[in-house]
Amino acid sequence: MNNITVAIAADHAGYILKEELKKYVGDLGYELLDCGTNSQESVDYPDFGKAVAESIIAGRANRGVLICGTGIGISISANRHQGIRAAVCHDMTTARYAREHNDANIIALGSRIIGTSVAKDCLHIFLSTPFENTERHLKRITKLD
Ligand code: RB5
Repeated sequence: MNNITVAIAADHAGYILKEELKKYVGDLGYELLDCGTNSQESVDYPDFGKAVAESIIAGRANRGVLICGTGIGISISANRHQGIRAAVCHDMTTARYAREHNDANIIALGSRIIGTSVAKDCLHIFLSTPFENTERHLKRITKLD
């Protein structure tokens, strides 16, 4: 077990992928905070983007995973929160740069865009890649807020 807690949430379109990724995140040794949803019944993605964003801002989690049909709506909702940098990633390269250059604290995935294996690869890279922490990237991230 490491010291990172991962908050995860999805809307109805992302529910099944969320359940698959929960097991994977646990197997990788991370603590997990499930912020819903808990079925495929239709819900509104902003409620779940907000839940994960707030859990990170409050310090209950260090990183977040958000899933909707495309990853877009739920990332937009999370990015409305100060200090949140949610990145839609659909391959390992975007997942790596989201961490190295953008210090993204949430990865957003589209369950209707990628399959489970690619989602797992993205998540693994996202959780294990450090921020580059150079002056140029720090300056740009600071400007976001
Ligand atoms: C739900 O049908 C869908 O609109 C949602 O999951 C997401 O893709 C929105 O961005």
